Amino acid sequence: MTSCIPIRILEPSDAERFRDLRLEALTVAPEAFGASYEEDAALPLETIRARLSASPNVVFGAFADHGLIGMAGFAVYDRVKARHKGVLWGVYVKAEWRGHQVGKRLVQSVIDHASHHVIMLEATVRLANDEARRTYHGLGFKPYGVQHKALRVGDMFYDEELLCLDLPRPGDA
Ligand SMILES: CC(C)(COP(=O)(O)OP(=O)(O)OC[C@H]1O[C@@H](n2cnc3c(N)ncnc32)[C@H](O)[C@@H]1OP(=O)(O)O)[C@@H](O)C(=O)NCCC(=O)NCCS
Repeated sequence: MTSCIPIRILEPSDAERFRDLRLEALTVAPEAFGASYEEDAALPLETIRARLSASPNVVFGAFADHGLIGMAGFAVYDRVKARHKGVLWGVYVKAEWRGHQVGKRLVQSVIDHASHHVIMLEATVRLANDEARRTYHGLGFKPYGVQHKALRVGDMFYDEELLCLDLPRPGDA
């Protein structure tokens, strides 16, 4: 059933629904993301449209019930010496759609896309976030460290696991 949920790269015309889901994510799971609600709520729609047209940086979206129900982002590092690396960011599935492999399919879409552009994909995840850790570990991400007090939300500090996935270079068997 859920494999029928279409997943595609978001376009600039998806900016409003992307912003709505992103702000929902930052409201319901603030400790899961590096950005704050206030920071993202202040972004002009034009900035979001530009971000959604900055290929190879992309956001994958999952669609159901005529709306966006999940997303996962990919960004390449800017600096010349780091352009062989990318980052998985903003992974979120609406609560009522969780547990049906949507998160896994979104992250797999990012991995497939990333393998055409970088040789290494990084991710960070809150150490206590079992759902996300299981999703990433299951898709091959390897932990290489823990940053203590990586995020601060109000008076709370959260430790994050640092993860890395090596991707085959084009032409590798
Ligand atoms: C993390 C998240 C995206 C997973 O999405 P999802 O669609 O529910 O995940 P899937 O159904 O694809 O499941 C992926 C894996 O997580 C496991 N999982 C799902 N829910 C789980 C739960 N409540 N507890 C433990 N593992 C769970 C699944 O069993 C599956 O692993 P498996 O293939 O080994 O069985 C979703 O829980 C979410 O949006 N959480 C809030 C935001 C967040 O934490 N984002 C990550 C930021 S790093």
